[in-house]
Amino acid sequence: MSAKLEEVIKNRRSIRKFKSEQVPAEDLERIIEAARLAPSGTNRQPWRFVLLGDDRKKSKLEGAVIQPFVLRAPAVIVCCLDRKSYTRGLVEQRMKELVRLNVVSEEAAGYIYNRKMPEKTEDVVIPSSAYIDLGIAVEHMVLMAGSLGLGSCWVRLFNPQQVHEALGLPANIEAVALLPLGYPAESPPPRPRLDRNEIMIDPE
Ligand SMILES: Cc1cc2nc3c(=O)[nH]c(=O)nc-3n(C[C@H](O)[C@H](O)[C@H](O)COP(=O)(O)O)c2cc1C
Repeated sequence: MSAKLEEVIKNRRSIRKFKSEQVPAEDLERIIEAARLAPSGTNRQPWRFVLLGDDRKKSKLEGAVIQPFVLRAPAVIVCCLDRKSYTRGLVEQRMKELVRLNVVSEEAAGYIYNRKMPEKTEDVVIPSSAYIDLGIAVEHMVLMAGSLGLGSCWVRLFNPQQVHEALGLPANIEAVALLPLGYPAESPPPRPRLDRNEIMIDPE
């Protein structure tokens, strides 16, 4: 690992200008591996990714992105959720794994089994916790990219339906965010942040 986590966190900026230099394939793999290792509720791992690592693949997104800088990045990762992860069968499978590993008690698992859960993927309404899980995985990628000297930018401003169609994604997959990646061609100053006293709440 090249840079200390604290430095990566402090120096990270959303990067919207990239050099044309390609991102080495092994770095893209390390970035995806960082997502794979992320934690998730009931270890459901609902994230799925589409790697658009060359111009031909990226061109599929033309018309579906709103900010042109996204397609000027050498690589774009389309970050998605898989509805199937929330069907009873798969949730119980994950839960049983955790019980077997003594991570969760049978009793705690019972709370999950007793929840209303769809049997079929078509009936799944993606829960809000899925976006938390995917958010963690994407931020793992952002920080890994930073540690490799790469810039990235979370992008939610796009047309998910058009991306879905352009990439021919299956019905169970929902595109949630785009992550353009490349060597930064800008070094912006820190963006405004709230002060510590604005984000901390004193208990009564
Ligand atoms: C969930 C999320 C969605 C975002 N969507 C976009 C986007 O669609 N387009 C964009 O240019 N920046 C987007 N951003 C980047 C934010 O504008 C940026 O993080 C914020 O202004 C702070 O700047 P910094 O990341 O450089 O510290 C997004 C960031 C997050 C975390």
